[in-house]
Amino acid sequence: GTTLKAAAERSGRYFGAAMGGDRLSDSGFLAIANREFDMMTAVNEMKPDATEPNQGQFDFRAGDAIYNWAVQHGMRVRGHTLAWHAQQPRFWGSLSGSSLRTAMINHINGVMAHYRGKLAAWDVVNEAFAENGSRRSSNLQSTGNDWIEVAFRTARAADPGVKLCYNDYNIENWTYAKTQGVYNMIRDFKARGVPIDCVGLQTHFTGGSSLPGNFEQTLSSFAALGVDVALTEADVTNASTSQYQGLTRACMNVPRCIGITTWGIRDSDSWRGNENPLLFDRNSSPKAAYSSVLNALNAA
Ligand code: G3I
Repeated sequence: GTTLKAAAERSGRYFGAAMGGDRLSDSGFLAIANREFDMMTAVNEMKPDATEPNQGQFDFRAGDAIYNWAVQHGMRVRGHTLAWHAQQPRFWGSLSGSSLRTAMINHINGVMAHYRGKLAAWDVVNEAFAENGSRRSSNLQSTGNDWIEVAFRTARAADPGVKLCYNDYNIENWTYAKTQGVYNMIRDFKARGVPIDCVGLQTHFTGGSSLPGNFEQTLSSFAALGVDVALTEADVTNASTSQYQGLTRACMNVPRCIGITTWGIRDSDSWRGNENPLLFDRNSSPKAAYSSVLNALNAA
């Protein structure tokens, strides 16, 4: 394949990007998106604060604008995200206990009803673990340790056809405590029949020139639990070619690694913009890392 999506599709995978609503009027961004990518994630527009700004009042305009552009250009869409400690509706801040739990359930039902049957996957729960491998403390965690499984059961009932993912960062290194914490939760969910289909590894790599040597082991270990894995927000300090090649190869080596998404397209799109972590430069030209990813996709 001569594009990222064509190369990924050779093995039945996708190659995705994230876009903010402001990029819908950025012709440079849209041209690359249309040429290279076949999966799209909204950067902020499908998060809880965006989709339910006031209790029971849903607003899908910004999310739909991205969804519609993507679908009109032949892409699929990943939903990001339904339950998270950050970017919550302001009214969640004045709730706790059973009223916050009910608000979370109502939010999942309201948003998933709108997108029912339309999305490839939902990041149902985002970033619920601390670095030490225990649950991150948050208002949602304070509603009871079962909040995550309640979110997934609610999601399955709301849209039985969409893949339900748990998504987190710093879970790429197999021996890291947080990776093990998430792994143990997924194993427990599968053992008890809690509905979950996929784990999203955000894959925000920082520092050094090599990625965790056991990254592929992490992917295959999650996959062995009976879930798909996906790299959902990839970006790499200075777009290290070896790290990009390594993360792509790791995904290609694991049959249940279904696709890779970069968090933006050009360095100017990135939340880590001063680290130039993406595959295209500020002039929309592909960087060396682009070739290393493309070659790794085509080698598989
Ligand atoms: O829209 C307002 C704008 O009106 C205002 O002038 C400006 C001033 O700061 O802020 C704008 O909102 C910002 C928003 O991005 C849109 O640019 C928020 O302050 C800023 O906090 C928000 O950051 C987002 C961040 O999530 C918040 O948690 C980033 O764009 C987004 O890329 C980032 O994405 C997360 C994933 O969801 C989860 N994993 C990590 C990843 C990177 O942090």
